Amino acid sequence: KPYIVIMAGGLGTRFWPYSRNIRPKQFLDVLGTGRTLLQMTYDRFIKLSDKSLFYVVTNQKYFDLVKEQLPDIPEKQILSEPLRRNTATCVAYACYKIAQIDPEAKIVVTPADHLILQEEKFHEKIDIALEASEDGQKLITIGIKPNRPETGYGYIQFISEPGNPVKKVKTFTEKPNSKLAKTFLESGDFVWNSGMFVWKAKGIIHAFEKYMPELAEVFEEGIQYFDKEKEEAFIKKAYSLVKNISIDYGVMEKADEVYMVMGDFGWSDLGSWTSLYENKPKDKFNNVLDANALLYDTENCYIKVDTDKLVVVEGLNNYLITESDNVLLICKLDGDKKFRVFVNDAKGKG
Ligand code: GDD
Ligand code: MG
Repeated sequence: KPYIVIMAGGLGTRFWPYSRNIRPKQFLDVLGTGRTLLQMTYDRFIKLSDKSLFYVVTNQKYFDLVKEQLPDIPEKQILSEPLRRNTATCVAYACYKIAQIDPEAKIVVTPADHLILQEEKFHEKIDIALEASEDGQKLITIGIKPNRPETGYGYIQFISEPGNPVKKVKTFTEKPNSKLAKTFLESGDFVWNSGMFVWKAKGIIHAFEKYMPELAEVFEEGIQYFDKEKEEAFIKKAYSLVKNISIDYGVMEKADEVYMVMGDFGWSDLGSWTSLYENKPKDKFNNVLDANALLYDTENCYIKVDTDKLVVVEGLNNYLITESDNVLLICKLDGDKKFRVFVNDAKGKG
């Protein structure tokens, strides 16, 4: 059975103000299913693995949230990060630790904020990737058929080889600009990176040594501390030494050993208001209503208010209206980048 590494340390900025620093979106029940995104991720993978093989990597300030939301996972499998150093560091922490137990271990790395509709198909694809990881070298990503020139994703160009579900990757481009994203989409040659990865512990470590030698050096030096009380001190030091860089930029863009398995299982990154809007049931004017609302001449809007306050809206098209805690946000329902600005400018104001 594979190890499962859940990356759950992001801030969910693009979901502000619903997603806050004290409780980012992976810890929220954004779909109203009764389970948070992190819990849904666990539910999806527990069928493929065993709770003794899960690692959840998160910021130390979310340790208690993870413990509370995933009570089946032993505490020692919740890895606490002292600083935000992005996904390359998060992957290194978990994978070096697993390699101490078994360098031949197969690992699935997954974000904590995805929606997957067809679970059986999903399990089939993960199984194909796990089988392909057997040789110990391959770094396998799950690809998604793109439907818009999204600039927030990685784009993968692969060598088509009919009959083989495991495709060799030619190029990997993380977060292209919109012109490039349009070109990729139109060429029909590219798929999105889903952000889920499958490899053996020794395979990803080999890649760190080759493509991120500074990171590899830091972790290799301290590896003897894993599983001891010294781990915390080592990790604190390691995190202060390494760069803040994602696994996509740090490894996937550079590596020669990248392969792709197509994931046709109804995938969505619930990374932002627009993606959540797309995945929610709508009224006949294409509004998503998570509120007690009265609408007039209003379409394509997303209204989400946590309280039972009555929201009355007239004459809006394509707007987000949301209130949570002490913030009321009204803005165009498009683009993700502006949320970073909002969050920054709001600091100290609310
Ligand atoms: N532990 C930990 N520490 N987790 C982190 C950190 C960190 O410093 N930073 C981010 N994460 C977690 C997030 O919570 C999320 O579950 C996952 O790692 C991915 O991070 P995102 O910030 O959501 O990445 P992205 O959406 O911009 O890009 C990635 O996902 C896209 C698909 O959703 C990339 O892999 C893209 O190539 C991909 O297309
Ligand atoms: Mg994301």
